[in-house]
Amino acid sequence: MKILVTGGTGYIGSHTVLSLQEAGHDVVVVDNLANSSEESLRRVAELSGKTAAFHQVDLLDEQALDGVFREHAIDAVIHFAGLKAVGESVKEPLKYYYNNIVGTLNLIRVMDGHNVRRIVFSSSATVYGEHNPIPYVEKMEIGANNPYGRTKEQIEDILSDLGSADDRWHIALLRYFNPVGAHPSGRIGEDPQGIPNNLVPFIAQVAVGRREKLMVFGGDYDTPDGTCLRDYIHVTDLADGHVAALNHVADKAGVFRWNLGSGTGSSVLEVLHSFEKAVGRELPYEITGRRAGDLPAFWADASAALADLGWSTTKTLDEMCQDHWRWQKNNPNGYTA
Ligand code: NAD
Ligand code: UD1
Repeated sequence: MKILVTGGTGYIGSHTVLSLQEAGHDVVVVDNLANSSEESLRRVAELSGKTAAFHQVDLLDEQALDGVFREHAIDAVIHFAGLKAVGESVKEPLKYYYNNIVGTLNLIRVMDGHNVRRIVFSSSATVYGEHNPIPYVEKMEIGANNPYGRTKEQIEDILSDLGSADDRWHIALLRYFNPVGAHPSGRIGEDPQGIPNNLVPFIAQVAVGRREKLMVFGGDYDTPDGTCLRDYIHVTDLADGHVAALNHVADKAGVFRWNLGSGTGSSVLEVLHSFEKAVGRELPYEITGRRAGDLPAFWADASAALADLGWSTTKTLDEMCQDHWRWQKNNPNGYTA
């Protein structure tokens, strides 16, 4: 199939472009490069031996997007493009609502206009909010607790309403848990701009000497070692989950929701110690106050993706840290030479 990947130069997008090409699909990428670099796609092409067509297009520019659909006979869309920093979304909610929601509305209107009605959407475990018991199951009522998360929830609602109103749509809503790691080649990986918000990119920058020490946000949670538990998933497993979801919705109409996670939780200190093993030395850290909005623990019930898609995670936390470290060590400044 010919697949349009929005946000395809970004972290998860670039790994998914590679998985799609390896699975035999043709890929077209649109991205406005707000949080990524085209260098990721050059490296994906090195790895796959195939070049994805690239259009530097903002989803807010509906006409330009329409032009991409006129140029390529797209069969399905994987929609990653969006802003994703929770803290920034609290400070600048309109920027997040406008970019993520209007961008998605433009995309689905253009798709509809070109009779393309298969979409796989990047949602997030953050939609489960604060009130659900763990592990999270797809049928639970959702309700995010920050503007970023609410954009994901609202886009899920928009796509669900669309699927209910028009049975020609094939829609997969993928709720990711905590993606980390990098392609084992060390050629593509996560390249955060500024100070990383997330745990593993921060540890990686400590290891490479760009940050002094890890601040562990809270050591007094009611968990085995006092630090928060999360469900970390290797980005290549996540990318393969998209190919599996795409195969499922290729010939099945309707709205499907799947958690993409491993089904187990790891603590902040377990992640740190696994990363230390990969690096081969201890890394400096300090336990500090809790971060506002953090939940003590959550992980996925990953059984629906296994039952429906035959997909489950394959890589361990140690492999995630080894691969993340290889990428960071070989590219201390990310894609910037
Ligand atoms: P990323 O920032 O690396 O990739 C997102 C890409 O979208 C970037 O390349 C950015 O330039 C592009 N983009 C943003 N707004 C755009 C617009 N208006 N038009 C065109 N391109 C635009 O992030 P990622 O980690 O690869 O995440 C991909 C998707 O997965 C996002 O939707 C994110 O919210 C979601 N997600 C990520 C995580 C995570 O921890 N990384 C977890 C859950 C969900
Ligand atoms: C964060 C987002 C969440 C998003 C997810 C994946 C918040 C409040 N939540 O979740 O909406 O879906 O990323 O993108 O931002 N930690 C430290 N020190 C650090 C960084 C993190 O101790 O420097 C801890 C955090 O307190 C948390 C764990 O590490 O317990 C994982 O943090 P992070 O990688 O930011 O992911 P989430 O908190 O799950």
